[in-house]
Amino acid sequence: MDYHLILQTIKNEIQSLASTGTVATYIPELAKVPPNKFGMHINCMSNGTHSFGDSDERFSIQSISKVFSLTLAMTLMGDELFDRVDVEPSGDPFNSLFQLEHEEGIPRNPFINAGALVISDILISKLKHPKKEFLAFVRKLAKDKSITIDQNVFDSELEHIYRNAALINLMKSFGNIENDIEEVLDLYVYQCAIAMSCAELSKAFEIYANSGSFFNSEEQLITSRKTKRINAIMQTCGFYDEAGEFSFRVGLPGKSGVGGGIVAVHPGQYTVAVWSPPLNPRGNSELGMYALERLTTLTGLSIF
Ligand code: DON
Repeated sequence: MDYHLILQTIKNEIQSLASTGTVATYIPELAKVPPNKFGMHINCMSNGTHSFGDSDERFSIQSISKVFSLTLAMTLMGDELFDRVDVEPSGDPFNSLFQLEHEEGIPRNPFINAGALVISDILISKLKHPKKEFLAFVRKLAKDKSITIDQNVFDSELEHIYRNAALINLMKSFGNIENDIEEVLDLYVYQCAIAMSCAELSKAFEIYANSGSFFNSEEQLITSRKTKRINAIMQTCGFYDEAGEFSFRVGLPGKSGVGGGIVAVHPGQYTVAVWSPPLNPRGNSELGMYALERLTTLTGLSIF
């Protein structure tokens, strides 16, 4: 497989495409990111790494962090975790309040905001120093101790936290939040404010492509059963009300963030990360999705 040539083809195609998407503005700091940034990095199990564009530049990972927080929570808690958050696709926007009201404060899945807030609550209950330990976990997965948060993004999101505050208050009223809501929001916004590059993200996602171990390693970071489950949730819920469309076009488990990043996984083959800030109406990177669709088409490698 000539990954270099395939990425060159995608690069050329992207350059001739105009994105109709818009950069997220509800977190004002994200609106400052130049919309023409584009990076792509593929990390193959046995075919090296290949990249182009701004693939080494860090950006706000936002909801991609929900994969890391779910993983950490699953190492700290057994199947009871899924009494507090379900594993069904929501078919609704990532920050919707609708289902939460008539489903008694149990979020549909851990990747919509409500579900990720429950996971943050679990981390606070289980960890002594939640922020520090969460960051250490991400650094361990990416094998990079310099990964940190973007303080401006953190401050900016906390200043405009109204929607997530509504979600968490509603869940607290149903008894599905144990800790102080301010503390939970603080951890949630912290995890979303982590900045990583496409290269770093594709490294940090190796465990999901290799049954819980880094590539070329025997060390088991999470069990293969947990890996299977996390990949299944990425496949069915990773793109909110566009999970079907992402499956249809790309055919890989993955997770997006409003910073314009997407990470996708082909178990046994590769991990891939893309970054392009303009988002489609469902909050997912427009050109990022295009690039991944082209990757699985040109390589003939999707999970289907
Ligand atoms: O809570 C929020 O709204 C953001 N911190 C994260 C949302 C997000 O990334 C949705 N993904 N596409």
